[in-house]
Amino acid sequence: MSKENLMEKVVSLCKRRGFVFPGSEIYGGLANTWDYGPYGSALKKNVKDIWWKTFVEDRDDMVGLDAAILMNPKTWEASGHISNFSDPLIDCKECKERFRGDKLLEENGVEKAESLSLKEVSEKLKSEKIACPKCKASNWTDAKTFNLMFKTKQGVVEGDQADIYLRPETAQGIFVNFKNILDSCRVRVPFGIGQIGKAFRNEITPGNFTFRTREFEQMEIEYFVHPNDKKASFDEWKEQSKNFFSKTLGVKDENLRFREHDSEELSHYSAMTFDVEYRFPFGKTDATETWGELQGLADRGDYDLSQHEKFSGKDLKYRDPYTNEVYLPHVIEPSFGLDRTVLTVLIDAYNEEKLEDDSERVVMKFKPSLAPVQVAVFPLLKNKEELVKKAKEVHKMLKPHFRSEWDDNGNVGKRYRRQDEIGTPYCVTIDFDTLDDASVTVRDRDTMKQERVKIEELAEYINKKLTA
Ligand code: GAP
Repeated sequence: MSKENLMEKVVSLCKRRGFVFPGSEIYGGLANTWDYGPYGSALKKNVKDIWWKTFVEDRDDMVGLDAAILMNPKTWEASGHISNFSDPLIDCKECKERFRGDKLLEENGVEKAESLSLKEVSEKLKSEKIACPKCKASNWTDAKTFNLMFKTKQGVVEGDQADIYLRPETAQGIFVNFKNILDSCRVRVPFGIGQIGKAFRNEITPGNFTFRTREFEQMEIEYFVHPNDKKASFDEWKEQSKNFFSKTLGVKDENLRFREHDSEELSHYSAMTFDVEYRFPFGKTDATETWGELQGLADRGDYDLSQHEKFSGKDLKYRDPYTNEVYLPHVIEPSFGLDRTVLTVLIDAYNEEKLEDDSERVVMKFKPSLAPVQVAVFPLLKNKEELVKKAKEVHKMLKPHFRSEWDDNGNVGKRYRRQDEIGTPYCVTIDFDTLDDASVTVRDRDTMKQERVKIEELAEYINKKLTA
């Protein structure tokens, strides 16, 4: 299967099986917006819950936060987003389509275009005779700065409204609450604050399904350390970041890698950044070949706390209770993209298999902890009252313990195909023998093997399998 093909197949399965729909579709959509359907929202929630449990609940050195999306605009002056958070915008003078100049250059083989100045981008577009991907002309405006923040107005009185921004990262909500958390939560450096929430960026060229969108969710940690402990902490977070994808979410190791940013690529706040990247099947036209950023791991130093001290006039220093040393902690920031993680899980789980009878099946091999449905319960025949009654009892028994789904559509073969496509690890069928022997048939998604299991042992059996 070619890479372009794989992406098309995943997008099509997402629509067909209720994982991801085009946004506002009945009105013709809205460019690159996507809505998570019943199975997609379940998958997304499972990723979020596992992230929260791994990095917040299970650790003694982490606390959680849920800060507002709308923040005092001074936040963005302090953070540097008003002056620095921009991309080079170019317009095709012929067809008026807009592009991100650096990305277009990279797609045409110019390396490290992200580090070029506006003037250099304009010159390169001309010297390389880069054609417009839409109309093929090569007639560009000069590149100009385009700030990626969404600006809106707060207030109801016309003429009396204040400019305000939708947050472009959740991180700043953490920094502005640093002192509140120090004062209220008995935390001691080193400690971290985790937050999951929406972020908004007016991306010039969103695309590649849910990979680059204007509205997305981040799962961010700001980990506060003594400046002398920074290196060790960075290395630890590097290992934990990759482990989260490979071990916790089950993403194949060969599809993951680290990439260090060179100095020109670093964000305005960062002294060192590593990205965890996934081998996405986007095809040759993607600038990054197929590797795309899933998570950034940045050494933000004391940039943010010192900027917020300066702009707010508040003292944000930490006093060590044992040594009495007073200092601004440094920050290690593992910043995960939730939508990209869900997309990764979907792509990585997609499998096509040839069966013995020469037919094919599509199966989403999600880790059971992530699967939107963990067990599906079927009556062998939906018009046999005694089977339906027994199957409903079994479903009711399983429901409090597992994400269990009732399925009586079509024949059992069709139900297996459907459950394979949504990645359900176990299917339970209630047949005529069940009425005599109080046992059911349990079918394993990956091996397709079937086993008879006593109803009274079923919950324990499934639990053991799911957690094996
Ligand atoms: N606070 C640091 C920060 O925001 P970033 O590398 O700009 O760093 C972190 O973003 C993560 O957010 C990325 O690794 C990516 O997974 C996700 N992300 C960024 N922009 C995105 C977009 N336009 N669409 C979807 N996800 C995005």
